Amino acid sequence: MKRIGIITSGGDAPGTNACIRTLARRCFNAGITPVGVFDAWDGLIKGSVRDITRDDVTGIVQTAGTILRSSRSRLFLAAGDADKAKAALARHDIHGLCVIGGNGSQTAARLLAQSGFAVVGVPKTIDNDLAGTELTVGFLTAVEMVTHALDNLRATAESHNRVMVVEVMGRNVGWIAVEAAIAGGADLALVPEFPFTLDEICARLKTRHETHGRNYSIVVIAEGALDEQRVLDPQSGVADKLGRPKLGGVGANLAREIEIRLGYDARCTTLGYLQRSAAPCAADRILATRVCDRAFDLLVEGQSGVMAGLQGTKVVPVPLDDVAGKLKRVTPDYYRLAQVFG
Ligand code: F6P
Repeated sequence: MKRIGIITSGGDAPGTNACIRTLARRCFNAGITPVGVFDAWDGLIKGSVRDITRDDVTGIVQTAGTILRSSRSRLFLAAGDADKAKAALARHDIHGLCVIGGNGSQTAARLLAQSGFAVVGVPKTIDNDLAGTELTVGFLTAVEMVTHALDNLRATAESHNRVMVVEVMGRNVGWIAVEAAIAGGADLALVPEFPFTLDEICARLKTRHETHGRNYSIVVIAEGALDEQRVLDPQSGVADKLGRPKLGGVGANLAREIEIRLGYDARCTTLGYLQRSAAPCAADRILATRVCDRAFDLLVEGQSGVMAGLQGTKVVPVPLDDVAGKLKRVTPDYYRLAQVFG
């Protein structure tokens, strides 16, 4: 294998540059040319491809974003798209590909592998919702960022006798919400996986304020969480490039409902893209380096259709069949732990 392609796709996540740097350095050390595919799958088809230089990957272990840029793409949604991608890779003389991304990216990687191209996946998404790996690159930095925000918001919530609702990312799963709630001492964490009603939420807040004598509360809600009656549904009706509803708004709706139903002063802070933009924490830089070190080995050893996943203390090859289209949901024990302190 003389030329290995590197592509980053889906939402950016802190630690992605540390991934690219590791793959490129392993290539240089092995006499292989690392080839950067810019702007994800659409960039591949358009020919936004060039060799990565040593200068490209110097001084980037600590930076957020991706030097290869990223996007969500509709490629691989239609039959025959894998062949288009394969032909584009062949045009650039790329013999194997590392796909750094989340669920959509690993699904594309699997299709490409099934079409006979050598592909290894690297788990990267702040959502931590990928099956087959205990952690995804970017998640721990996002949790860190939200935890700091909760620490800071506590002061204003307490000073103004308010309920502070904090909306965080998490379309299908609430890993960021539960882990940050545990670390940041939030009183409630609401996630897509576990049903709740506004009556229950209000009853819990009422007990905290009126029985336990607290003057403020902090509630974390994942952007994809909805109450059973769907009162919180923002119903934006706006879709993203992939036809999925654009999320955002449940937190503001929850704050409004708390004010109406309980008469407490409530505000919402939506952390949004700040969760994806922080410099990677040390743990993410190390995870990125470890999974990419293994991904490189897997590719040159001739493995394909696998992702380098963290299981226990080891990085192991996980078949993309066990990753693509599957979700790693918040487990009941984690969810319970996030509710203990309310
Ligand atoms: O990176 C994953 C994610 O953070 C989801 O939680 C969220 O729904 C999505 O990205 C939004 O990102 P974009 O607007 O870039 O598609």
